[in-house]
Amino acid sequence: MDKHELADLRRDFSSVGLDESAVDPDPFVQFGEWMNDALAADIRDPNAMTLATVGEDGRPDARVVLLKYYGPDGFLFFTNYESKKARDLAANPHAMLHFFWRQLDRQVSIRGTAQKTSREESEKYFLSRPVASRVAAWASSQSRVIGSRSFLEERFRELKEKFGDKVPLPDFWGGFRLAPDRFEFWQGRQNRLHDRLVYSQNGGTWNIQRLSP
Ligand SMILES: Cc1cc2nc3c(=O)[nH]c(=O)nc-3n(C[C@H](O)[C@H](O)[C@H](O)COP(=O)(O)O)c2cc1C
Repeated sequence: MDKHELADLRRDFSSVGLDESAVDPDPFVQFGEWMNDALAADIRDPNAMTLATVGEDGRPDARVVLLKYYGPDGFLFFTNYESKKARDLAANPHAMLHFFWRQLDRQVSIRGTAQKTSREESEKYFLSRPVASRVAAWASSQSRVIGSRSFLEERFRELKEKFGDKVPLPDFWGGFRLAPDRFEFWQGRQNRLHDRLVYSQNGGTWNIQRLSP
């Protein structure tokens, strides 16, 4: 394959700044404000976030998942409990969530520890999903090697027929809740002099510090 260079691909960030005196002292509230801005900006999948994990072998992995709920008790996403990410989290619950809202020149990274949600919580969300998505959860042994696409489609057809419109929660599927201990809010600014504010937990309170861009 030919080499491709992207070194000249650059643009200036001109957004308004992020100021210590203007941000909310509670990072969950600050996150909510930025999420609302992302929702209002009509960004596609504003709740898409990169989840980074480190497996038993000490190597990192990352993939996009959808944030489904957030609040003072944490950030929730749903997945297959036998997937690579779930196996990583079982071995090492430390993880990062990362949002990049390009249209707002913003990124947020959230570090914390993830735990499985209760079965009731997983079931409540699972049953709210469209029937086809629920069947797909049954059909996919997520992260495992399969021989062909037709194998997956055949399994989907079989399970759809078996369950009809009553598709229960599989034992191998559910949520994780990440409880944060650190947030970073990043706002792109002119001349690469970006704003970076980090909230870190100190006892019961959150400290805010500015990092050099
Ligand atoms: C926009 C987008 C949203 C996604 N949402 C989810 C999700 O909520 N849960 C999930 O398990 N996978 C989701 N995926 C697929 C994951 O990125 C990933 O391929 C899959 O979970 C397997 O990851 P793993 O093998 O590292 O466990 C999404 C992918 C994209 C691009």
